[in-house]
Amino acid sequence: MICDADVTSRSRAAVRSRAAVRSRAAAPALLLLGLLVALFPPSLCAADVAAVDSPGGVLRVTVAINGEGRVSYRVDRRGRAVVGDSRLGFILADAPKLERNFILVESTTQSRDSTWEQPWGERRFVRDRHNELRLRLRESKPPVPASAGRELTVVFRVFDDGLGFRYEFPEQAALRAVNITDELTEFALVDAATAWWIPAGEWNRYEYLYNTTRAAEVGQAHTPATFRTTDGLHVAVHEAALVDYSAMWLRRVEGTLFKATLSPAAQGARVKRSAPFVTPWRTLQIAERAAGLYMSDLILNLNEPNVLGDVSWVKPHKYVGIWWSLHLDTESWASGPRHGATTANARRYIDFAAANGFRSVLVEGWNRGWDADWFANGDSFSFTEPYPDFDLAVVADYARGKGVRLMGHHETSGFASHYEEQLGAALDLSARLGIEAIKTGYVADAGGAKFRDADGSFRFEWHDGQAMSRHHLLVVTEAAKRRIAINPHEPIKDTGLRRTYPNWVAREGARGMEYNAWGAPPNPPEHEANLFFTRMLSGPMDFTPGVLSLTGRNGQRFQSTIAKQLALYLVIYSPIQMAADLPENYARYPGPFQFIKDVPVDWQETLVLDGEIGDFVTVARKDRHSEDWYVGGVGDERPRTLSVALDFLEPGRRYRARLYRDGVTAHWDTDPHAILIEERYAMRGDRWQIPVAAGGGFAVRLEALP
Ligand code: NOJ
Ligand code: CA
Repeated sequence: MICDADVTSRSRAAVRSRAAVRSRAAAPALLLLGLLVALFPPSLCAADVAAVDSPGGVLRVTVAINGEGRVSYRVDRRGRAVVGDSRLGFILADAPKLERNFILVESTTQSRDSTWEQPWGERRFVRDRHNELRLRLRESKPPVPASAGRELTVVFRVFDDGLGFRYEFPEQAALRAVNITDELTEFALVDAATAWWIPAGEWNRYEYLYNTTRAAEVGQAHTPATFRTTDGLHVAVHEAALVDYSAMWLRRVEGTLFKATLSPAAQGARVKRSAPFVTPWRTLQIAERAAGLYMSDLILNLNEPNVLGDVSWVKPHKYVGIWWSLHLDTESWASGPRHGATTANARRYIDFAAANGFRSVLVEGWNRGWDADWFANGDSFSFTEPYPDFDLAVVADYARGKGVRLMGHHETSGFASHYEEQLGAALDLSARLGIEAIKTGYVADAGGAKFRDADGSFRFEWHDGQAMSRHHLLVVTEAAKRRIAINPHEPIKDTGLRRTYPNWVAREGARGMEYNAWGAPPNPPEHEANLFFTRMLSGPMDFTPGVLSLTGRNGQRFQSTIAKQLALYLVIYSPIQMAADLPENYARYPGPFQFIKDVPVDWQETLVLDGEIGDFVTVARKDRHSEDWYVGGVGDERPRTLSVALDFLEPGRRYRARLYRDGVTAHWDTDPHAILIEERYAMRGDRWQIPVAAGGGFAVRLEALP
């Protein structure tokens, strides 16, 4: 019978010849087919047409086409179903849906096992080991005459720790302009029990606390969204290489069946492209332990290699800035008596950076446009004109003289096209000033990213729609021409494009430290243990750690100990890390501040030692420029003891360890500043038990001895 036919063990040639036979179907065969269709209702009758295993045989992806010509895929891990039959396809705005009447024209496979080097990152060398299955699909009968025989290619890349698949729209007469209303891609998660997710399509972009719910209670979620099955398997759904396309949101249909839905467009179809083009990869990271999700390099591997050539000008570094005072509201972005960005204040921060080894100084509120309601007035921003009390030339000279650079700041209030109009001039000025990196910002409610069209009319787009995906790449590529790195806040989510554009160094795109200044509520103790296994699977975050004062606006108390602030430099990865507190606060805590001065930001290797989503995580990272290792861990609201096995150290070598851990009485609420700073010697094989307080964490520097 044609239902449940399995070709998984057949050769690629056999798959191809079967397809050829199908497309040359003769009259008797059609008669037989008619009979079979009558016996087995089409929707029930799916035949497996191709399959591919991951290189180590851990995962298997099987593709089926049912009697209606609908294409689906499913995923098994070591023989156990992880994703059940999940359909593929598209709704188009001006042509019939692309979802049925498909036959397989050709199926090919190829394998890859290569290692590539990151210019900067969590690890220097990344192994890309996968098997690829490429399926050429063609509509066998036209939905309408004009669209006869449209073709669509689906490509799967299957790794041992996950998979990606994408659609390719080949050049073809029957489908030139591709106007996508929505995707029909499904993820039928088998046995998913628990989900960690934030809502998509809501006003605060990605800045929500993570929900921990039953998987069957998810609404519409951003990705990465992370799931755990009843028997403890971890699955994260995300996407890679989001270029000139709308971001994928996950919409729960019923039970644990999820469907891709694309971030909307202000007008018309959500994605407007011309064939040929490829979609982003839809990704599933699959791991036994939560730690395995973060250890996966799947997202980077699915992105294209660096197109910028020599990127030695992208400098991983630590920075300070006129920033926390603005969030405390003791100084202002706006001009006037409380203006933070004055020449004198900038000099003070430059002196502080020079004295403590920070490479750059961020100055927010330096440029015209912050007065009145800047949230609503993106059109008032100039990206070239400083306020009169900020002498840009003098400050830049002063910084240069001290061996420090300015970090640029371009807040747009989401008025993207206004920024684009000034982009060239703004970047040219930045380059002349020796600025190496710019923090951009898009503060506007989701759905409020603004574009002025040629006829003067306005469009309001989503922060993660196709228009903004184009905008961000424009900024990144224009900046690259001037050897400048970009760090957007209120960004489009990360999908690994740092591999292709290594000057896209970090983003915000989650609730960062600023919520501890004014957030209601501030970030709870479990926040970073949630972020690590969700948002951080997508890429670096400019979290702005290191606020040792642990106090926000009007005395708001952080739900963090001081040791945890140090741990964040190791847990929340970014190649640019801020020391976010005020210089005067660092003067109050010289012991812990030493760790912030010492900790590197660029890594040779990263090992997640242990972790459970929302509970705790411990991570070890090896410095890219020395033999030293660093270990950090964060917990949640419960005190616990974290075990650290130092099995990663070089055999036979001694290390001097400086451990920064919660004091005996430490608790985020009652004694947040209690910290113990201890020195001990360490060798490979040592086992440490490190007590972590409620809201606590720890950080260790392991200096390799000669
Ligand atoms: C929000 C950003 O996250 C924050 O870092 C910045 O200070 C403000 N916008 C102003 O640009
Ligand atoms: Ca928890």
